[in-house]
Amino acid sequence: MTGFNKAVVVGAGTMGHGIAQVTAMAGTETVLVDLNPEIAEQGLTKIKANLDKGVSKGKVTDADRDATVGRLTTSSSLDALDGADLLVEAIPERMELKRELFATADAKMAPGALLGTNTSSLSITEIASATKRPEQVIGLHFFNPVHIMKLLEIVTGAYTSDETLERAKAYGEAIGKTAVVVRDAPGFATSRLGITLGNEAMRMVEEGVASPTDIDTALKLGYGHPMGPLALSDLVGLDVRMHITLALHEELGSDGFRPPQIMRRLVRAGCLGKKSGKGFYVWEDGKIVGENPLVRA
Ligand code: NAI
Repeated sequence: MTGFNKAVVVGAGTMGHGIAQVTAMAGTETVLVDLNPEIAEQGLTKIKANLDKGVSKGKVTDADRDATVGRLTTSSSLDALDGADLLVEAIPERMELKRELFATADAKMAPGALLGTNTSSLSITEIASATKRPEQVIGLHFFNPVHIMKLLEIVTGAYTSDETLERAKAYGEAIGKTAVVVRDAPGFATSRLGITLGNEAMRMVEEGVASPTDIDTALKLGYGHPMGPLALSDLVGLDVRMHITLALHEELGSDGFRPPQIMRRLVRAGCLGKKSGKGFYVWEDGKIVGENPLVRA
């Protein structure tokens, strides 16, 4: 069990639906909230598809699937936070949006609640300062796809209490993840390294060093990465990566974090990666079917 009675996951996009899935699977009543009700519903549909796939592979029982679906509801209203004791926030990577949400959550949630953010790069301490209970705020950084990836990066802010850290670790264990604990520093452990590699790979494409496919193949076969940095950027979402690298550039100043022009160009053209069907690659039915001609244009 997760140790919580009512969880609310806010933001039902790439990450939120998976976080809701693993939380409900671990036995907690979970509400998946998105400002856009259609996205919340789509999130639930994706969860059901994941669970059905799990059943067909023999990893999930029929009873577990049905019980998980029974614990999940969707909403487009933050009133779902009333009385909840776990928040996992997965809205866009913009400080002002997150602070506004945390102030609302502070006003609505149960006194002993844990307020978690799935931010990839923003300061936990700064998000927590929008509340009157910064000791209950912590980073719960998941990886995509959430129901498959084993890591949970737990990030402690300046005021996060030991008790909150222990509860976050227990939650991580209940949902079957391996946790690492990282101090609140720009990009934590994972994003800082991942963005460095992704940005450099993008600049190499820009300079014509090699094609996206060849760069990704080099890292996969040469260094044993399960996925190349450009395919990974597409999977994460190029808009999401852009927000992360802008935040890291502002904080750390290093030129390596300046968003590559090619990423800006693709985002402006609506090529956001897997979720929009095109990024560095063209995606169909969740799989890469070729390179995006715009990358070479
Ligand atoms: P996304 O863009 O796929 O989904 C965000 C969702 O939040 C959208 O459906 C939007 O309608 C909704 N939303 C926006 N403002 C809202 C509000 N005030 N209340 C309720 N819903 C709201 O974003 P994604 O990729 O899921 O990222 C979410 C967070 O997770 C970001 O902080 C990102 O940095 C982080 N993250 C993303 C990863 C990835 O692979 N995409 C990996 C790990 C963390």
